Amino acid sequence: MDAPVRFRQQGLIPDSFKQDLLNRVDIVDLVERYVRLKKAGANFVACCPFHNEKSPSFTVSPTKQFYHCFGCGAHGNAISFVMEYQGLGYVDAVKELAESAGMQLPEFERRGPKTEPEGPDLYEIMQRAAHYYREQLKSAPAAIDYLKARGLTGQVAARFGIDYAPVGWQNLQSVFPDYAAKALKDCGLVIDGEGGRRYDRFRDRIMFPILNQRGSVIGFGGRVLGEGEPKYLNSPETPLFEKGRELYGLPQARTAIREAGRAVVVEGYMDVVALAQHGVECAVATLGTATSATHVQKLFRQTDEIVFCFDGDAAGRRAAWHALDISLPVLADHKAAKFLFLPAEDDPDSYVRSHGREAFEKLLAEARPLSEFFMSELRSQVDMATLEGRSRLIHEAKPLLKRVGAPALQLQLLKEVAQASGVTQEEAARLTEIRGVAPARHTHPAPAKGPDRAMLVRKLDRELLACLLAHPPLVREVPAEIVDVSHAEGRALEALMALDGIEKLTHAVILERLRGSEHESVLERIGGDFLEKGMDADIAQAVFNGAITAIRTREPNPRIKELGEKEAKQGLTASEYDEFGRLIAEGAALKQRRTPPSTVL
Ligand code: GTP
Ligand code: MN
Repeated sequence: MDAPVRFRQQGLIPDSFKQDLLNRVDIVDLVERYVRLKKAGANFVACCPFHNEKSPSFTVSPTKQFYHCFGCGAHGNAISFVMEYQGLGYVDAVKELAESAGMQLPEFERRGPKTEPEGPDLYEIMQRAAHYYREQLKSAPAAIDYLKARGLTGQVAARFGIDYAPVGWQNLQSVFPDYAAKALKDCGLVIDGEGGRRYDRFRDRIMFPILNQRGSVIGFGGRVLGEGEPKYLNSPETPLFEKGRELYGLPQARTAIREAGRAVVVEGYMDVVALAQHGVECAVATLGTATSATHVQKLFRQTDEIVFCFDGDAAGRRAAWHALDISLPVLADHKAAKFLFLPAEDDPDSYVRSHGREAFEKLLAEARPLSEFFMSELRSQVDMATLEGRSRLIHEAKPLLKRVGAPALQLQLLKEVAQASGVTQEEAARLTEIRGVAPARHTHPAPAKGPDRAMLVRKLDRELLACLLAHPPLVREVPAEIVDVSHAEGRALEALMALDGIEKLTHAVILERLRGSEHESVLERIGGDFLEKGMDADIAQAVFNGAITAIRTREPNPRIKELGEKEAKQGLTASEYDEFGRLIAEGAALKQRRTPPSTVL
């Protein structure tokens, strides 16, 4: 699975360390190193460093220690900022930040072979190997001819550091006199054969170095010159290289991705290189593995649009469907995933070579939105001419819809599914349970279901979440029976309640704890909402009480809502304030008559 990889990565760094780090670093200082900030009330604003804009919608909150861009939705704490701004992975961003704050990372979480804490630097070994392979390319006319025949100039070959591993079994012995060293094996550069004979993994292959976000070599892909099996040989997973996390060509593509406003995901090394050769520099490739949620998250951190570009054959469609599937929970309403299918006989490399950049960019611009691909695939799986088939459509759509992380998109897809299968939206909502109520969690009779109520529950849950982020001690006051895990907001609420010692955590640390989980994108949106409102503890308590009451009575007084909104936007007059308090207290009394007593209100 993909998500645990990310957790495993983060698990290396103890929570207490991250907490200290976030307490030590001031996000205003940090952001100011890169962006000129202007004071605006309690916050600071600037033109957003993550998208092009003329008027500032990027806001940094010194009290909450996070930033939010109302234009592009970029959002997070100090660690996120370093990841986004410098394009670093999580662990590297923490390291970077810790170094700048003069903090030492605890020894045990360092990456590398655990038995040799003082052992050789694997990055350095990879660097030396890459250097050797580069030297070899110069004296290998066959390899140079091969690259030329594939239409690559020396310039593009250099941009990607394309090299050559020569013929022979133990060439690396000339680079590493201690050829028996364990580190060479740890790097995946050598293979120990039967009888203990060690030999080079890569022989007589065109080498594609795989770089991490800092530009260090962490692995290689090696292609045979011409025909041969296997066509590509890749580095194994090593302490430096996790295939489910890394994307080939990302460091080279980063600037182009920003400028183009999109990232293109392709399948092969040669696709990335050939696209760059023809001026499409925003492409990256997965490394002979399926697209992972981490890949998608990584790219969405840099841009709002990802175009998955796969071959037009059956395998390409399967790969695309997989990419759709794993993208669902990672999507946000301001992020778009699109799909581009090339003619069956082409891959991006052959297409751009025969049709050129403009033709390819035209295809990119016309790529199919996720929603379209979603519907057409589902339709093609069932017999839409029969009512059984249309019922099956709902059945197949259900688990997918439930996983959509973007609420507006989820609703739109639900409408599409309803329409295609000939039921009403309410019926589809009930059948897919995407906004129904999980009965087991409720101690009182399940209320009437339906989109309006469901939307309301989500909205109230968002309000609750906002209060909890603004004032974490309120978590202790959330009655367990109001938690409705049938939608993402409810599950985020549950996750907050399960956090150890949450009442003592700051907003920034809470985000950190839930990073990489399905709750990240929900909390990201909430964070933005309440930054705008700037809730202090009193208001948080009042809004919290109102939301709890409304959830329990399920018939919220619209006046409470109106006053709550006014309070957040412009403040209330004294008499409105009284009214607000009274309505909330009344709601609480009403609730006590209807539901079991609780300690809350
Ligand atoms: P070219 O023939 O050089 O154009 O390759 P391609 O990029 O078109 O390759 P293809 O579509 O066949 O494969 C896409 C990606 O899958 C490659 O870039 C590799 O990462 C991976 N791959 C392809 N063949 C093999 C193989 O034989 N073994 C492994 N491990 N990976 C492969
Ligand atoms: Mn190809």
